[in-house]
Amino acid sequence: MPEDGRLDPAQLFPAAREVWLEIGFGGGEHLASQARAHPDVGFVGVEPFVTGVARLLAEMTAGGLGNIRIFPDDARLLLPALPDGSLGRIFVLFPDPWPKKRHHKRRIVNPETVAEFARLLRPGGELRIATDDVGYARWILAACLAEPRLEWLAERAADWRERPADWPPTRYEQKALAAGRRPVYFRFRRRTD
Ligand SMILES: C[S@@+](CC[C@H](N)C(=O)[O-])C[C@H]1O[C@@H](n2cnc3c(N)ncnc32)[C@H](O)[C@@H]1O
Repeated sequence: MPEDGRLDPAQLFPAAREVWLEIGFGGGEHLASQARAHPDVGFVGVEPFVTGVARLLAEMTAGGLGNIRIFPDDARLLLPALPDGSLGRIFVLFPDPWPKKRHHKRRIVNPETVAEFARLLRPGGELRIATDDVGYARWILAACLAEPRLEWLAERAADWRERPADWPPTRYEQKALAAGRRPVYFRFRRRTD
């Protein structure tokens, strides 16, 4: 462990070029797919839901995926323990929207966690967030646009209304689409200056 008490995730993957983090991976389909597509990257997946962890472990075993580590608990316990600039990408896909105003404080994307994401990303690193909840989409966008270290990577509506080709689908997204809801896909870059 480094002297400042932080955990360096790169030590988990000595051969990897960088480390990517997924928060609330659910059944793990996006994480497993990214890990297959990027064998030179180390992946940390965070998910407190034990059935999701079991699903991903089964997929890792079946697919021989050695570049994933799992933190089976609340992401807010892990984030403060990671060093500045230690992550190349952070994914938060379809986080629970907590639509009632009195529950907004439970939202995993909020101004405090967005500041943590900006701290954890290396310059040029990327934050990806998806949601199918219109109110949460506005809230996420406001929090990320207010963070001066992040830059929204959208130039036209299709950039956030359509899922990019290198962004594998998730189980929750399929449910949202089947129910007629239209997700949004936000990408932000950690500024280099
Ligand atoms: C709506 S589901 C989406 C799952 C998956 N990302 C998908 O798109 O299918 C939200 C997930 O976030 C997880 N979650 C909720 N709070 C969390 C937290 N504080 N830290 C990490 N994961 C959390 C839940 O257990 C759940 O699996």
